[in-house]
Amino acid sequence: MGLIKKICCVGAGFVGGPTMAVFADKCPQLNIEIVDINKERINDWNQNDLTKLPIFEPGLKEIIQRVRGKNLHFSCDIEPAIKNADMVFISVNTPIKQKGVGAGETSDLRWVEACARKISEVATGHTIVVEKSTLPVRTAKTIKDILNASNPKVDRFENKKSFSVLSNPEFLAEGTAIINLERPDRVLIGGDDDYAIESLKKIYLNWVPPERIICSNLWSSELSKLTANAFLAQRISSINSITALCEVTGADIKEVGKAVGSDSRIGEKFISPGPGFGGSCFKKDILNLVYLCRYFGLSEVAEFWNSIVKINSWQKKRIYSLIVDKLYGNLFEKNIAILGFAFKSNTNDTRESPAIDICKDLIKEGAHLNIHDYKVSKQAISKELDLDLDPFTNVLSRESTSKSWSFFDDVYQATKEVDAIIIITEWEDYKKIDWELIVHNLRKPSWIFDTRVLLEPSYFKNMDVNFWQLGLGF
Ligand SMILES: NC(=O)c1ccc[n+]([C@@H]2O[C@H](COP(=O)([O-])OP(=O)(O)OC[C@H]3O[C@@H](n4cnc5c(N)ncnc54)[C@H](O)[C@@H]3O)[C@@H](O)[C@H]2O)c1
Repeated sequence: MGLIKKICCVGAGFVGGPTMAVFADKCPQLNIEIVDINKERINDWNQNDLTKLPIFEPGLKEIIQRVRGKNLHFSCDIEPAIKNADMVFISVNTPIKQKGVGAGETSDLRWVEACARKISEVATGHTIVVEKSTLPVRTAKTIKDILNASNPKVDRFENKKSFSVLSNPEFLAEGTAIINLERPDRVLIGGDDDYAIESLKKIYLNWVPPERIICSNLWSSELSKLTANAFLAQRISSINSITALCEVTGADIKEVGKAVGSDSRIGEKFISPGPGFGGSCFKKDILNLVYLCRYFGLSEVAEFWNSIVKINSWQKKRIYSLIVDKLYGNLFEKNIAILGFAFKSNTNDTRESPAIDICKDLIKEGAHLNIHDYKVSKQAISKELDLDLDPFTNVLSRESTSKSWSFFDDVYQATKEVDAIIIITEWEDYKKIDWELIVHNLRKPSWIFDTRVLLEPSYFKNMDVNFWQLGLGF
C-alpha cells in the first residue's frame, strides 16, 4: 500500500464534476478520471466551448480550463479507470425510490449497488472506496458486503483484492460549489480503517486546514450529512411558515428576518424567505431521515422532520392559490410570465425546483406561461413539465403540457402583454432590468408576484401595476 496517485470518480454530476475539478486543481500530483454511463454528459464535459459544460457553477469553467486533459479526464471507460485507481469515489445519484418497499420515502440505491458491484469485479490490489453520494445510514455495510464478496477474489495479477470503505459526504451548495469546495467549513471523513482515513485526509490537507477535517465512525458520518441537510431545510420551512403570518398581521418578513437573524445564536444565513426549497437533496434527505426514524420506531421524531417537508409543499400551493385568487379566480386565456426556473440562482439545476409545481398548477388552471431563465435551457424545462416518464417502463404517464408554455431567453419578450409576472428564482439580474418598460408593456390590470423578496415594493407604488411580495403584510 502506498501513496494515493490515481483516483477514479464514478458519476460526473453536480457533485462528481466540481469536486474532482477542485481536487485536480489543488493536487497536481494526482491523476483523476471521472467516469459516467451517460455519454452525452461526458461529451459535454469534454466540450471545447466551456460555456457548454453540463453544469453551470461560478468559477467552474476556469478550473476545468486549467486541469482538463492534464490531471483531470472525463470518459465512459469505467472499467479501466476503476482498475487503475488507488481510490474510487462513488458519486452517483441516489434519488427517492419510486416503487416498492419504501417508495416515496427512502433512497433508490440501485446506482450505488451497481457501482459497488463494478468496483468489486474489476478493482485490483487494495482499493479505498469512498462514499461521496448521500446515503441512508448503514449503507457502507451494504457496500462492504458487496465488495468483499468479489468474484474473483484475486485481481488480474493474482494479488488478493481488498477494500476499505470510507464515508466522505459532500456539503457543497449548488451556486457556490467552488467556494464551498475550496474553502469548506469542514470536511467529514468517516471510517474504521486508520490507514484509509489518513490517505484521504492527506489529500484534503493540500488545501484544507487540519482543524477543519473531522474524523468519525462510518455511521456518524452518514447520519451527519442527512442531519445537516435536515437542519438547513428546517430553517427555510421555519421562515417560510412565518411569511404567511406576516401577510395577515401587517408584519414584514424582511424586518422579522433581520431582527431574528441578528441574534448570534440564530445567525442570518439560510433564513431568506421564498416559494419553498428545491434541489435534489433536501426533500430526499429529510424523507430518508423520516424513513429511518419510522423503521426504528421513533414516530415522534419522524413526524417532527416530516412537518418540514409538509410546510414546503404547503408554501408552493399557498402561493399558487393566492395568485389564482388575485387574478379573479380565473386563469383561462391569461398569460403569465415566470421569471426563473432553476431551484435557486447561480445554477442551471431544476431538480425539485418550486417552479415545477407552481407552473404545473397554473397550467392546470388554464394559464399560458412564458418561461424565462438565465441558465436553464428549454430542454431542461420540457423535461420537468412535459415528460412524466415512469422510471421503470419509460411510458409517458401524463399528458404533454408543451402547448401551455413557451420559452424565452429575452426577459422583455417573456413579459410583453402578460397579465402577471411571477418571480420564482432570485437571479440578481432581475433586479437590474428596466421594470418601468416591463410594466408599461403588461396587459392591464396586471400583477407582479415577487416570491423571492427580490424587488423593492416602494419602487412600484406609483406604477400602473399591482405588486405582491411574499411575507409583506397589507
Ligand atoms: N447536487 C448537490 O448539491 C449535492 C450536494 C451534496 C451531495 N449530493 C449527493 O451526491 C450524489 C450525487 O448527486 P449529483 O447531484 O451529482 O447527481 P447527478 O444526477 O447530477 O450525477 C450522478 C451521475 O452518476 C451517473 N451514474 C449513475 N450510475 C452510474 C454508474 N453505475 N456508473 C457510472 N455513472 C453512473 C449518472 O449518469 C449521473 O451523471 C447524490 O447522492 C446526492 O444526494 C448532491
